[in-house]
Amino acid sequence: MIVSSSATQSLSVTLAAETGRELAPVSYERFPDGEQKVQVGAVGDRATVVASTVSDGDWVQLLQLQDALREVGCEEITTVLPYMGYARQDRAFEAGDPVSARAMARAISTGTDRVVTVNPHETAVCDFFDVPTESVDAGGVLAEPLPELVDPLFLSPDAGAIDLAETVRDAYSTGETDHFEKTRHSGSDVSIEPSEAAVEGRDVVLVDDIVATGSTMSESVAVLADRGAARIFVTCVHPLLVQNAHLKLSRAGVETIYGTDTIERPVSTVSVAPAIADAL
Ligand code: R5P
Repeated sequence: MIVSSSATQSLSVTLAAETGRELAPVSYERFPDGEQKVQVGAVGDRATVVASTVSDGDWVQLLQLQDALREVGCEEITTVLPYMGYARQDRAFEAGDPVSARAMARAISTGTDRVVTVNPHETAVCDFFDVPTESVDAGGVLAEPLPELVDPLFLSPDAGAIDLAETVRDAYSTGETDHFEKTRHSGSDVSIEPSEAAVEGRDVVLVDDIVATGSTMSESVAVLADRGAARIFVTCVHPLLVQNAHLKLSRAGVETIYGTDTIERPVSTVSVAPAIADAL
């Protein structure tokens, strides 16, 4: 059975259809003091819990769901983390910092037999789990909603996302790839060092794993607009889109923003369910 968290219901429904598995009965409530209360019905011996962990509350709910499943007699639990929050905190950046991704991974490992995650910021994050953990590359689906493009360039804002840009280009089946270089000064302040890519008159698809504040993308868009790019599209696996990110990108001149359903947002136009189903 598929056991959905409250934040991952659309993806869970799609995944249930994709795998032919049933959706488990689950309810989500809160006690008057604000603490979460989840309840699951009978699920049998094996269950797959699906939970993106965007907020701290999502992490708590996932731990509760795992524990509830053991309580109702489930013997084999797979945990799907479509979006793993805290994955970008994969090292201690300054003395005294925790390795938060490791802390979260260890906590999740106590309640599951296996983990499947989708395009984590770095695949090395899988090593932090104490149970077998696999990362699924769902980047290819990002090509599906793209319109017909003119002389397309698939561009990542830094070298770290060039593989993803190549995956999207390969799935689209034509176009060039390139990357800029990014320097992060703070959580919302980045600067972009552009490459010499010729963009004038071309459609450009900016590709990244995550769009959070939209600062990385909007800085890149400014360069592209200045250099005479035709249309500029933004696509990402995890459309976090916090604060005014959507507005910021639209005001910068982005034609359309695309994302998957690892995080359920209005821009979540494609599903990672088939990629997850293959891994289950
Ligand atoms: C980090 O390096 C990721 O690949 C993204 O570039 C980053 O999360 C984007 O963050 P923001 O939208 O806040 O610039």
